[in-house]
Amino acid sequence: MKTPVENAAACSRTRPPHGILRSVQSKAKLVLDGKEIDLPVTIGSEGEVGIGISKLRSQTGAITLDPSFANTGACESAITFIDGERGILRYRGYDIADLAEHASFPEVCHLLIHGRLPTRSEREDYRTRLTRHSLVHEDMKKFFEGFPPSAHPMAILSAMIASLSAYYPEQETPEEIELNIIRLLAKAKTLAAFSYKKSIGQPFIYPQNDHSYLENFMLMMFAVPSEPYTVEPVVRSALNKLLILHADHEQNCSTTTVRTVGSGGANLFASVSAGVSALWGPLHGGANQAVIEMLQRIHDDGANYGKYVDLTKSKDEGFKLMGFGHRVYKNFDPRARILKQAADEVLANLGVNDPLLEIAKRLEEVALADDYFIERKLYPNVDFYSGILYRAMGIPTNMFTVMFALGRLPGWIAHWLEQRNTPDGRISRPRQIYTGETARPWVPLDER
Ligand code: ACO
Repeated sequence: MKTPVENAAACSRTRPPHGILRSVQSKAKLVLDGKEIDLPVTIGSEGEVGIGISKLRSQTGAITLDPSFANTGACESAITFIDGERGILRYRGYDIADLAEHASFPEVCHLLIHGRLPTRSEREDYRTRLTRHSLVHEDMKKFFEGFPPSAHPMAILSAMIASLSAYYPEQETPEEIELNIIRLLAKAKTLAAFSYKKSIGQPFIYPQNDHSYLENFMLMMFAVPSEPYTVEPVVRSALNKLLILHADHEQNCSTTTVRTVGSGGANLFASVSAGVSALWGPLHGGANQAVIEMLQRIHDDGANYGKYVDLTKSKDEGFKLMGFGHRVYKNFDPRARILKQAADEVLANLGVNDPLLEIAKRLEEVALADDYFIERKLYPNVDFYSGILYRAMGIPTNMFTVMFALGRLPGWIAHWLEQRNTPDGRISRPRQIYTGETARPWVPLDER
């Protein structure tokens, strides 16, 4: 069977099947204005049921209406499985807890993108390639000079990733597509670290080929030319976990963006750059920054948890407990559980006493015992504890969402490939129910 990368290379010519395990079994019946039609039902490999409505409009003239797509399956996907009710998250069948415990981030990149864990030699080869392609074209360094020091690193990352397409145009063969994927994974961390160095006025630090993926990132972020720098093993291990936990989350806002942009035929760099922008908002990846700002606010206000829990209930205030709630998880977010434990371990190991960790834990207790949160099934999500870990590692608050983006890269890439491989891969183009003015005559300027 072809790999996802080989399929992506061939797709524009042959559109081969992409090997997703599924079955079409029973039919659903829909009655509209007395007319009855059959709709096909697709069952996924974990028993998820989808009612096919692709022919609905041609058969009835009607469309489905599902703002924010909470009940819409946009695609079939073989990458990540989530059961929000049972708190299950698996990448390519592997449980997230096993991956966070045993895998390295590059291994998870390989798993998501190629569909299977690398062998020993493939792992070595992957690691070498991810290091050797870390350098960015020297001309790209000039772009950094154009940004003001106050520029948010997400703005720089998005612009820089889109700019990579100017240096590495879209390729056709599997080897060329694979090379661009490696380039993106390898260079994104360099671009992220350079954007931080730019914001604090320090010289850029170049990656070292004898360093691992994560060590190189830490080196480029925190080293200065005037003294040696070593990465604390506990920090490296926590960063590895964080990136793995963020690596994919099926059809979330940013991944859907990547697939949508990719469906128009846009290249890998352009599609992923759009994903970075989509991730930025505080309801999505920007929540990790917003959580720390909220915890700081609660801390400065005398740690009055009840006041902030009550504030969330008064809708007029527009205040939400950041890092709480999830579109899919309605029981618990398995990633948040892993990170809560990791936060305890890492802070203890580093000898960091962060009052915000205590505030986060107390706030969680108060919120989880409150009827408002119980009724709405609101639990801490992955971003509730991730910011505390990043802080302990010395990563500045405005870089938190960039860290999320680095972790999510392999997921975006895997989905871009899968979208490209879809046999009937049509451009994403939803419809709407128009609620504006009906036809009216032109009004000349003097009569308005
Ligand atoms: N604090 C207080 N109330 C909340 C919160 C929250 N964090 N989240 C949801 N609610 C309430 C809503 O106001 C709504 O109440 P209502 O029924 O009285 O109107 C109810 O819970 C259902 O919430 P929705 O907004 O419909 O849930 P949705 O699935 O659309 O949103 C989201 C999910 C965006 C994550 C939301 O919970 C939220 O804004 N959380 C805070 C931001 C955050 O942490 N984002 C990170 C998400 S994880 C990620 O992207 C990596």
